[in-house]
Amino acid sequence: MDHFIYQDQNLFAESCSVAEIAQQHGTPVYIYSRATLERHWRAFDDAVGTHPHLICYAVKANSNLAVLNVLARLGSGFDIVSGGELARVIEAGGDPKKVVFSGVGKTVEEMQQALELGIYCFNVESSAELEQLNLVAQSLNTKAPVSLRINPDVDAGTHPYISTGLKENKFGIAMEEAEQVFVRAAALSHIDVKGVDCHIGSQLTELKPFLDAMDRLLGLVDRLTALGIELSHLDVGGGLGVPYDNETPPAPQVYAAALVERLGERKLTLIFEPGRAIAANAGIFVTQVLYLKENSNKRFAIVDGAMNDLLRPALYSAWQKIIPVQQSDAATQAFDIVGPVCETGDFLGKDRQLAVVAGDLLAIRSCGAYGFAMSSNYNSRPRVAEIMVDGSQAFVVREREKRQQLWQGEQLLP
Ligand code: LLP
Repeated sequence: MDHFIYQDQNLFAESCSVAEIAQQHGTPVYIYSRATLERHWRAFDDAVGTHPHLICYAVKANSNLAVLNVLARLGSGFDIVSGGELARVIEAGGDPKKVVFSGVGKTVEEMQQALELGIYCFNVESSAELEQLNLVAQSLNTKAPVSLRINPDVDAGTHPYISTGLKENKFGIAMEEAEQVFVRAAALSHIDVKGVDCHIGSQLTELKPFLDAMDRLLGLVDRLTALGIELSHLDVGGGLGVPYDNETPPAPQVYAAALVERLGERKLTLIFEPGRAIAANAGIFVTQVLYLKENSNKRFAIVDGAMNDLLRPALYSAWQKIIPVQQSDAATQAFDIVGPVCETGDFLGKDRQLAVVAGDLLAIRSCGAYGFAMSSNYNSRPRVAEIMVDGSQAFVVREREKRQQLWQGEQLLP
């Protein structure tokens, strides 16, 4: 459920008219709904019930300060993958003690920053990283709280680019080496072994891969207990899918209940790192039709939004629903929705049945996650504005970039 609905054939974001926002703030533009973000976060939090847990929103999905702040106010933790994301969390009022730090390539400087801020846990992805972190913690005369990310070798059944839990992926420590690395971690003077984590992929629409991964991790937890290594948390990563079209991913309640049940008597705090499940359907991307164009076998709607603004269709052939901001009763025709960027891959949708004329506004659904966060200035296109609606009010939460910002920091030769 989200808060983007038609009223009298006009699309609304909560109680705000999308057409009015577009008129006032221009296009292309991202529009987020605070109520939807909150609803999705609470669905996760409520789903785990009374079992000790922490919801660490995956900042990479949408790192706008207002988004982070709305979630921080609910008590959210954060899953970060860079010093930049950590700085954003702090700037947005997030609690560093609820931050888990993922990623295969943490730098010494990022380790120092996170240790100084006192984060909850480092999700360590290799032996080499573990040794480095021990040295950094030693130099700061502290202990680094650590979870080891284990690659459970399960097929998430999702797009290969966003599948991370297979042996051939770069992520995590192989299950065969896990015990050995845990034993080493426990022996290191400046490492505090706290937990185990995994993340098998994104946009999963079935429960089974999650449960397979959980079973493998719990087997490891039990073997570690036998070795005298007691963990206090288990972090299951993110990855729960969302309906872009007719997918029916498990509801957070079903997913969380299944995981809690599998934990049995084990006293492990459960950590979740959802990104897409919280943010995707809390945002739309609104673009205006510039021209219609037809050749012998195709009809194109050329819009002002492009792959630099919304990369998912071009990068993953992702399908995202495209709907008119103002519904019409005119007959629909098949259109490819394409942007102004000089690449054949610059499309937002193909073969969509729409009734559009130049000047119409289109909304691409499910753009709250991995939308703006993956945007770029390719073709020297200023990044677009981001708006967050809260009931009947619409707030600019990121201004549209100005042209001069495009070359900020660039220098001519003397
Ligand atoms: N935790 C870790 C360690 C991750 O690598 C990710 C996502 C998440 C949590 C959050 O996953 P989510 O709940 O959002 O599925 N750009 C791609 C998605 C890349 C996901 C990368 N890792 C897309 O647009 O589909």
